[in-house]
Amino acid sequence: MENKAFYNIESDGQEQYIVVGNRRFFLNTDVDNFPVSELDVLGRDDKVREVLSAISGTYPFNPLIVGHPGVGKTTFVSYLAHSLGKNLFVITGQKNKEESEFGYFILPPDPSHPYFDFRLSKLGTALITGSWIYVDDLPKLSGSCLDILIPVTDHRRKLELLDNGLSLRAHPDFRFIASCNTGEEKLLQPHIKSRLKPVIHFKNLDISVLDEIIRKEFRNSQAKTERAIACFWGWWFEKHTHDEDLPTPREVIQVFNYAFNLTAHDQDQPKNGQNGKHLHGFSQESVHIPPIVDNENLKHSMNLFLNGYDQN
Ligand SMILES: Nc1ncnc2c1ncn2[C@@H]1O[C@H](COP(=O)(O)OP(=O)(O)OP(=O)(O)O)[C@@H](O)[C@H]1O
Ligand SMILES: [Mg+2]
Repeated sequence: MENKAFYNIESDGQEQYIVVGNRRFFLNTDVDNFPVSELDVLGRDDKVREVLSAISGTYPFNPLIVGHPGVGKTTFVSYLAHSLGKNLFVITGQKNKEESEFGYFILPPDPSHPYFDFRLSKLGTALITGSWIYVDDLPKLSGSCLDILIPVTDHRRKLELLDNGLSLRAHPDFRFIASCNTGEEKLLQPHIKSRLKPVIHFKNLDISVLDEIIRKEFRNSQAKTERAIACFWGWWFEKHTHDEDLPTPREVIQVFNYAFNLTAHDQDQPKNGQNGKHLHGFSQESVHIPPIVDNENLKHSMNLFLNGYDQN
C-alpha cells in the first residue's frame, strides 16, 4: 500500500522514476509548457483573479473553464502555469482516449533488474510531481476515463487505477483545470460535474481588446492596420447586432492573418513580362514586406473565415 503524500523521484542517469513496491514508474516527459507572457493574454485580469482564487490554498478546487472554441482557454491556462513556474501537461478530451492515458503504460521487461517497469501518463506524472494538468474539452472523454478522474478531483486527490490496491497520491502542488465548449458543461454527469468547480465562463473579449490583439499581432504597419480594423468592424456590424457574440480572438487573428497573406501574395506576383524568381507567396522577400492589408482581401478573408461576407 502506498500512502505517502508524495514520492521520492530517482534517476537512472537518463530518466526519472519513482519506485512503488516492486514497480518502477517512469515519468512522462511529454510536458506542454508554452512560454506565454502577460502580453499574450489581454483583457483577462478578472479571470486571473477567479482562477487563482480557485486553485490556491491547501484544498484547491478544480475549475472548469467554459467558452467557445478560440476564446483563449488554453492560452490562458498556459500563461498562468508559465508565470507561476509550473510544469503543465495538456490532455485533449477525445472519445477514443484509452484509460491507460490517465494511468500508466506497461514497458517491456528488463531482465537486468528485479522491477516491473511502467510509464506514467501525463496525469500520473503531474499528480506525483506537483505539476498542473489541463484537460481540454473534458466532456468528450468516455465514461470510464471520467471515472478515473473522480478520486483525482475530490478530497482524496489520488489516482486509483493501479491494481493490487496501489494508488498514487497527489503532491500538494498538483492542480487540475478542465475546459469545455459553451453548453457542453450541461452534458456532464452530476458526479463529475460536482467536482469540477467553480465553473468559470470565458466570454468573448470586448472590441477594444480584440483591436489590441490585432495591433499586437500586426504591429508593423500601424496606420494601415487602423484602417483595416475600422473596415472590419464596419462590415461585421452590417451582419450582426451589438448584442450578439463578437468573433473570438482566434477568428480575428485568422481573418487578419489571411488578409495580410493575400495582400503580400498579390504584391509578390511578378510584373508582366518578368519571370517570377520565387514560388508566389513563398519568396524570401515576401517575408520582409511589412504587413499591409488590402480591404478587398480583408473582406474576402472575412467571407472565408466568418462566412457571409461576399465581395459585392
Ligand atoms: N486574451 C487574449 N489575448 C491575446 N490573444 C489571445 C487571447 N485569447 C486568445 N488569444 C489568441 O487566440 C487564439 C486562440 O486561443 P486558444 O487556442 O487559447 O483558444 P481555446 O479557447 O483554447 O480554443 P479551443 O476551445 O479550440 O481549444 C490563440 O492564437 C491566442 O494567442
Ligand atoms: Mg484550447
